[in-house]
Amino acid sequence: MIATRMLGSSDIEVTPIGLGCMQFAGPGLGAQFYPELDGATIGTVVKSALDSGINWFDTAEMYGGGHSERALTTALRAAGTGPGEISIATKWTPLGRTAGNIGRTIDARIAALQGFPITLHQIHQPFGSFSSQTRQVQEMAQLREAGKIAHIGVSNFSARQMERADRILRERGLRLVANQVQISLLHRRIEDNGVLETARRLEITLIAYSPLKSGLLTGKFHESPDLLDNIRPIRRALGRFNQRTLARTAPLIDELRKLAAAYGATPAQIALAWLITYYGDTVVAIPGASKPHQATELGAAMELRLTDPELSRLAELSAPLK
Ligand SMILES: NC(=O)c1ccc[n+]([C@@H]2O[C@H](COP(=O)([O-])OP(=O)(O)OC[C@H]3O[C@@H](n4cnc5c(N)ncnc54)[C@H](OP(=O)(O)O)[C@@H]3O)[C@@H](O)[C@H]2O)c1
Repeated sequence: MIATRMLGSSDIEVTPIGLGCMQFAGPGLGAQFYPELDGATIGTVVKSALDSGINWFDTAEMYGGGHSERALTTALRAAGTGPGEISIATKWTPLGRTAGNIGRTIDARIAALQGFPITLHQIHQPFGSFSSQTRQVQEMAQLREAGKIAHIGVSNFSARQMERADRILRERGLRLVANQVQISLLHRRIEDNGVLETARRLEITLIAYSPLKSGLLTGKFHESPDLLDNIRPIRRALGRFNQRTLARTAPLIDELRKLAAAYGATPAQIALAWLITYYGDTVVAIPGASKPHQATELGAAMELRLTDPELSRLAELSAPLK
């Protein structure tokens, strides 16, 4: 049994790793990040994640306007998993919309999730809406009070923004339970920008997106730099995929490889094990997977126990890169 963690101050228990589902976004914006996956592949990826012990999934309206939410829930049903057996986090897209749109689009989210309840509804980013963050958070609170969603989260919020969101919710007897931000061995800004300290103080879970730096931490690009030529534009920008990055990160990747060999694991598993251990229970991770074996590997990554000197050595090598 994999030890679970509480999602913020809620009663929801999540495995330290959930599956990120941007890879299921289909054509359109999704294809700017990752090649489109067919339904059969998505089915096997989701089944592999479930079999490896994963008990929650992160999707979003922005991932194909319902494409990812539908693909995920179709795959869950096909795997014999029903509502209530796992948790789903989705997100509302603020871009060019008012706060009232959160309520107007909730039925579309519920329909796209095909009978699976929304465990966590998140404001995808702190910018882009015509309404204030206060109005957006209040609109989320109304959905919670109406029983349409179980819990409220945000994404890409600063320490100050997440603290304010939590304060607004507390005034209504609710709590902010999560802030989804980028965190990995190559992106450790939470340590300096107040987000980690605030999350710990307010008992808010940090959901680490791009925990493998969009695949850079797997070491496959260091091994075969030719693969850089095929990276899609937004993914390239997110991961800063270029020769200079490969050169700068080589010592860290070498250490990941060394530990991987010692543990009979892969560099990706070591990078994920570091992330879900180094920050304690406050941080959980949502790696995306485009191949079934990647989802299968997540279970063993959650059970890896790196020693304190190993955790510190990785932190030391990543410090100049963060
Ligand atoms: N809130 C936000 O603003 C935001 C932004 C970005 C992402 N997200 C969320 O975070 C999730 C993950 O982020 P991400 O996709 O950007 O980056 P990531 O999880 O760091 O990288 C995912 C990629 O890494 C490779 N990979 C994954 N597991 C592997 C394994 N075990 N072995 C080898 N390679 C492996 C795969 O690359 P290949 O496909 O090349 O094999 C996969 O597509 C998304 O699915 C999404 O749910 C949220």
